[in-house]
Amino acid sequence: VLMSELAIIGGTGLTRLECFVTERREVMHTPYGEPSGALTFGALCDRDVVFLARHGYGHTIPPHMVNYRANLWALKEQGVERVVAVCAVGGILGDLTPASIVIPDQIIDYTWSREHTFFESDLSKVTHIDFTEPYSTAMREALLAAAGEAGVAVMPHGTYGASQGPRLETAAEIDRMERDGCHMVGMTGMPEAALARELGLDYAVIAVSANAAAGRGDSAISMAMIEKNLADGMEKVRVILEQLVTTTC
Ligand code: HPA
Repeated sequence: VLMSELAIIGGTGLTRLECFVTERREVMHTPYGEPSGALTFGALCDRDVVFLARHGYGHTIPPHMVNYRANLWALKEQGVERVVAVCAVGGILGDLTPASIVIPDQIIDYTWSREHTFFESDLSKVTHIDFTEPYSTAMREALLAAAGEAGVAVMPHGTYGASQGPRLETAAEIDRMERDGCHMVGMTGMPEAALARELGLDYAVIAVSANAAAGRGDSAISMAMIEKNLADGMEKVRVILEQLVTTTC
């Protein structure tokens, strides 16, 4: 088997990586069920990488139905050690304009009723993971360095508010998140980050602003608006990822 140690999880707007040369796909079964799709093994800039589309390759799985446990378990089983997850977000702060990129460093979890741990039963085996710094410092630094080398402007810090979805938020919910200290809101950041930590994976997020969060822009938020802004943001993501694999794989 090809052991690729870096995985990229693509979110909304990134169901495939341009310039990625697919070598093979593998359908995996885990004790937690099926991942969002087959793992795609291949090369990005001649470096071995595994890719997985979080919402499925046809973008059919909503955020609250993603099998986050199966996705991360499958990657771990394939020998993956480092994960870069791409997440679309709404910008709560004014400077997080559409298509801008953030490498978040903190999370507040507002999700509920998701399968959020691998330690579900036997308390004697429960590990209370340290989650003070929810993202891997090494992975964040690698992403920031790659963005710097590639000349892509990114916000180097930020708090990711994870909402349950699939509906968007109310203006009051966004006001509360802002008071809590959130800079961005998205639906997939949790439990993915915590599950990655439970498995000992080095995990960090590239967040791409798709829209001004509810009550922050001049119009209602539409999927068409989100998709258009993400197309611009994903171009920057592609440049960062290519730089990352070139220097660290
Ligand atoms: N809210 C939650 N998730 C999102 C948003 C948003 O405004 N935009 C993209 N993902």
